[in-house]
Amino acid sequence: MSHVLILGANGQIARLAEQQLLSTTSHQLTLFLRHASRLQVKNPSRETVIEGDATDVAALKAALAGIDIVYANLGNAQIEKQAQNVVAAMDQAGVKRLIWISTLGIYDEVPGKFGAWNHAQLDGGYLEPYTAAAKVIEDSDLAYTIIRPAWLSNKDIVSYEITHRHDAFKGTEVSRKSIADVVVKLIDDPSQAQRDSLGVNQPNTDGDKPSFY
Ligand SMILES: NC(=O)c1ccc[n+]([C@@H]2O[C@H](COP(=O)([O-])OP(=O)(O)OC[C@H]3O[C@@H](n4cnc5c(N)ncnc54)[C@H](OP(=O)(O)O)[C@@H]3O)[C@@H](O)[C@H]2O)c1
Repeated sequence: MSHVLILGANGQIARLAEQQLLSTTSHQLTLFLRHASRLQVKNPSRETVIEGDATDVAALKAALAGIDIVYANLGNAQIEKQAQNVVAAMDQAGVKRLIWISTLGIYDEVPGKFGAWNHAQLDGGYLEPYTAAAKVIEDSDLAYTIIRPAWLSNKDIVSYEITHRHDAFKGTEVSRKSIADVVVKLIDDPSQAQRDSLGVNQPNTDGDKPSFY
């Protein structure tokens, strides 16, 4: 059993991972989020809620007391700053294992027409800070796993395949439920995929763009 700190605990993938962690594992969860009243605690003996902002290193460091694994489900234009703060707080607290949600495209690893479409959608404010944030994580000495989901759907399926740091990205889309499953499996066996960056897509979704576009 591990003590897991979830940053951005009200995020859509984070909420699915939390449900799965509560129903299929015995890990203890510390849920770190802004505006904590939004989150409904289902199992008070396994969930601790901390209201906080990932731009606050002191709050992050305090939340890291007794934590084994950090799962960061953050994101917006400030994600590079969030990455710097998470790395600094983990260094100060002596916590090593980090699971970091990023996005496809940060290494220009998406081939073909879909790669060009992805750039057209994400360049100019989204892809650049996510790329910079991943570099902050990779330049740290943390035992990180970066997860790069394809375009996210809310389909009620768990169906995915994985590519690694230097592979071309496959597919165009993936369900949030699938990403939650990848996260839960990494929390269950944190020795997997250390200092790797995983592309995650639904099999057989190759094309010029996701099916919902
Ligand atoms: N949409 C796609 O197709 C796609 C594809 C690949 C990757 N991604 C990325 O994957 C990530 C996870 O996806 P998702 O659907 O779970 O996203 P989400 O629902 O937007 O969750 C992100 C969470 O980050 C939290 N957050 C942002 N800044 C914060 C801060 N300073 N302190 C604390 N929490 C903060 C937000 O909290 P608040 O609720 O307080 O704002 C939000 O709950 C996102 O970064 C997303 O951009 C998206």
